[in-house]
Amino acid sequence: MKKLLFFVLVFVQFAWCMERQPNADYHVRREKLAAKTKGGAVLLFAAIEADGPNAVYGFRQDNNFYYLTGWRQPGAALLIVPASPEKPDSPARPYTEILFLPNHNYVQEKWTGPKLGPEDANARSITGFDKVEVLDNLRIELVNLLASRTPVFTDIVTPDDSSTSTEAIEWLKRANAFPLGTSFQDVRPLLSSLRTFKDDGELELIRKAADASTAAQLAAFKNIKPGMGEQEVSALLQYEWSKRGCERPAYAPIVGSGFNSTVLHYSDDDGPIKDGDLVLMDAAGEYSMYASDVTRTVPANGKFTARQREIYEIVLGAQEAAIHAFQSGKSTLRGNVPDSLYKAAFDYINTHGKDSHGQPLGKYFIHGLSHYVGLAVHDDGDYNIPVGPGMVFTIEPGIYIPDEKIGVRIEDDFYVNRDGKLINLTGNLARTPDDVEHAMATK
Ligand code: GLY
Ligand code: MN
Ligand code: MN
Repeated sequence: MKKLLFFVLVFVQFAWCMERQPNADYHVRREKLAAKTKGGAVLLFAAIEADGPNAVYGFRQDNNFYYLTGWRQPGAALLIVPASPEKPDSPARPYTEILFLPNHNYVQEKWTGPKLGPEDANARSITGFDKVEVLDNLRIELVNLLASRTPVFTDIVTPDDSSTSTEAIEWLKRANAFPLGTSFQDVRPLLSSLRTFKDDGELELIRKAADASTAAQLAAFKNIKPGMGEQEVSALLQYEWSKRGCERPAYAPIVGSGFNSTVLHYSDDDGPIKDGDLVLMDAAGEYSMYASDVTRTVPANGKFTARQREIYEIVLGAQEAAIHAFQSGKSTLRGNVPDSLYKAAFDYINTHGKDSHGQPLGKYFIHGLSHYVGLAVHDDGDYNIPVGPGMVFTIEPGIYIPDEKIGVRIEDDFYVNRDGKLINLTGNLARTPDDVEHAMATK
């Protein structure tokens, strides 16, 4: 009974409000990263709990640290050391990975809640690490485990770098934790190449972020009317995706009406919505650390004008052109080159419609077409390779004509499945002008 109570207490204390993939998924990533270092060690630090004006949404883990550990508490460290063969002065040692947790700071825990301490008997099963140690042991473990000339892969390599690892690495260098001649290598390109391809668990979380976000957008469609403020629409969007499990917006929500619809990263969201305006909503939630990124543009009064509809249809045509041009393993996301989806969308815009001076519209498409989506809304990833299975990215053409107070962007999140098929994760939300008007009219 006592034992049962103990487990119940532990479970309650460390139950995940947010979802987390099985420990094995994070372990697989650590092994893949270790293989990419070709015999190097990996040393990374978690984010630190910080107060202040930028901590509006509270603590959020560093993306790379989270990707490798699934660990959402502050102040931890990750060390991976490759296997080493037997040498005259040392025995053989297997591949080793250690999660270092800080000792309890009970004063801080009064403010921000209980944390898992390294002394906890369940620390290994909770975190999925065979070895969990107190952070104070990191220096001595480095001294013991790092063979001379083992490159250390981390995210602070040049004097310009700044990351969650900066202060700790500098301290460890001063404390002679690394053998003489240790070289520091950049772990970020290796992590980027892994993060380019989402596993099934990641895809599931992105799907949930996308579903909550499209439901929120639909709620906004049904509520927008002239006389409302952009702020109220932003509040509604945030309430609706939070209600569906998102912990925060995936980025600063953009609700721009009239002229504001032409401002790409408008985030004041404090203007009035007037009759005849278009309202551009680039707004989506983050679900269990994973982003989505959705834009729809709707008429404030529920009916597009002829000119708004004309521009809207060109943007939609450009999105369709990119979707149709897609070929798994061949298409690229960027550049004005033959296989680029950007080129397919740009060419469509530049050959359809005219501005008020009779000029082509290409010059009003002033941003890129696509970026990866994952732990970050503009996710790390390799942009030099063709897109294929496992990749998640946006297709988001837009036309912005400030003189006409017309800004239209349509943005959806896409996934390439194992068969190389392009799946629109946000395509259940109305996209055609008729469907948008119909969704707005249906209460
Ligand atoms: N929401 C930012 C973007 O679309 O890239
Ligand atoms: Mn985007
Ligand atoms: Mn967006």
